[in-house]
Amino acid sequence: MTIPANTQRMEKIVSLCKRRGFIFQASEIYGGLNGAWDYGPLGVELKRNLKEYWWRTTVHQRDDVVGMDGAILTHCDVLKASGHVEGFSDPMVDCRTCKAHLRLDQLVEKKGVKQCPNCGGKDLTEARRFNLMFQTHVGAAADESSVAYLRPETAQSIFVQFKNILEVSRKKLPFGIAQIGKAFRNEINPRNFTFRSREFEQMELEYFCRADEGMKWLQYWLDERLKFYEAIGIPRAHLHVREIPEDERAFYSKANYDIEYDFPFGRHELEGVAYRTDYDLRQHIKASGKSLDYFDEETKQRFVPHVVEPSAGVDRTVLALICEAYAEDQAPDEKGKMETRVVLRFHPRIAPIKCGVFPLLKNNERLVAKAKEIAALLRPRMTVFYDESGAIGRRYRRQDEIGTPFAVTVDFETLGEKEPSLRDTVTLRARDSMKQERVTIGELPAILQQRIA
Ligand code: GAP
Repeated sequence: MTIPANTQRMEKIVSLCKRRGFIFQASEIYGGLNGAWDYGPLGVELKRNLKEYWWRTTVHQRDDVVGMDGAILTHCDVLKASGHVEGFSDPMVDCRTCKAHLRLDQLVEKKGVKQCPNCGGKDLTEARRFNLMFQTHVGAAADESSVAYLRPETAQSIFVQFKNILEVSRKKLPFGIAQIGKAFRNEINPRNFTFRSREFEQMELEYFCRADEGMKWLQYWLDERLKFYEAIGIPRAHLHVREIPEDERAFYSKANYDIEYDFPFGRHELEGVAYRTDYDLRQHIKASGKSLDYFDEETKQRFVPHVVEPSAGVDRTVLALICEAYAEDQAPDEKGKMETRVVLRFHPRIAPIKCGVFPLLKNNERLVAKAKEIAALLRPRMTVFYDESGAIGRRYRRQDEIGTPFAVTVDFETLGEKEPSLRDTVTLRARDSMKQERVTIGELPAILQQRIA
């Protein structure tokens, strides 16, 4: 069952993203470039935290995965061999009434008649294939011989470099090659904010194994990926595993799962976990004439490994994180009157700013100096936002709205003016519970580091 779209909630999220500097439309002052997005100061931190956590758990914390960073410009023969030049296309239909270009699956059907979702027009062209790759030319000659593409997935450079990486890493099967990077698809209809973009980032792992272990590793990686989302704050109950039926799978794929998330605009794919068999390596062996096989020292057998591929979208996951975190609750204002509070309940691990640091009053030199000292103490260990302007409640609200999990306030107790035993202690406030505790400045870095790890 699909969840009904929650347009109002989505509008609030899009507006918050712009207002607080998470995501802006690319080329905005020139009217915007459809399907491209710029991440602002907070968006880039959120994105980096996500990518770093993926890299840490997928590469650094494992002995069986190494990384690579491939070129975006791709030789056209690579994408001919992979099947993208011939087959990476969506069926497209034009509406003759409003001139919209539409993906066939976006048409609405009323009483058995297909209609344009924009104007309701029924005068539609026949469906035709539209290749989603961005083509370019390398060098000065713009002819057939210089055609190259912006990669439509990061996976292909992993397959092409399989042999080099196998040799230099000296890994034995099963082992994986991971990559995070940009991919480009000329989507017919970019939509739902960043969900379907023309330029986006992927986090992909190609996990090579023996043919008889493919299904086992597929299940393993599906479980690992579900655990990953839970570890960044997306509860299992909001994730759904869809097993792709045979008639929807690529002909070479033995099994395939989509991990879907309940976005406000409906349930949609966050990541694909696919068993691609040995198709890609074999295609590149055939087309390049080079060997991309594996020699097993123990059995003295030479064979082409199979591959299981968890492929996640960075931008889609960032969007899911923001949608998941967005909440409105009630909190007291300066006078104790309850008001609506907008809060992003990010998991501390991925929150863009980890801690706000505030002097109680900005016109008290000693409070300000102490607060700046604490900000400097924390800064080498985490992202910190120092703020001295406005009432303390307002400053808490501003941090709540961008998802900062902790706030430290320096007050007169910190200076030892009220109660000598409280000298060099601060209040530490938690974003979600709004509870405050008193901790010493000395123990503050360790407490925070432990809570944001
Ligand atoms: N190498 C396999 C592959 O690329 P895919 O299902 O086409 O598979 C993998 O893409 C992931 O990349 C998707 O689950 C999604 O998260 C992300 N993705 C794909 N197209 C996208 C787009 N137009 N905008 C944003 N993310 C996209």
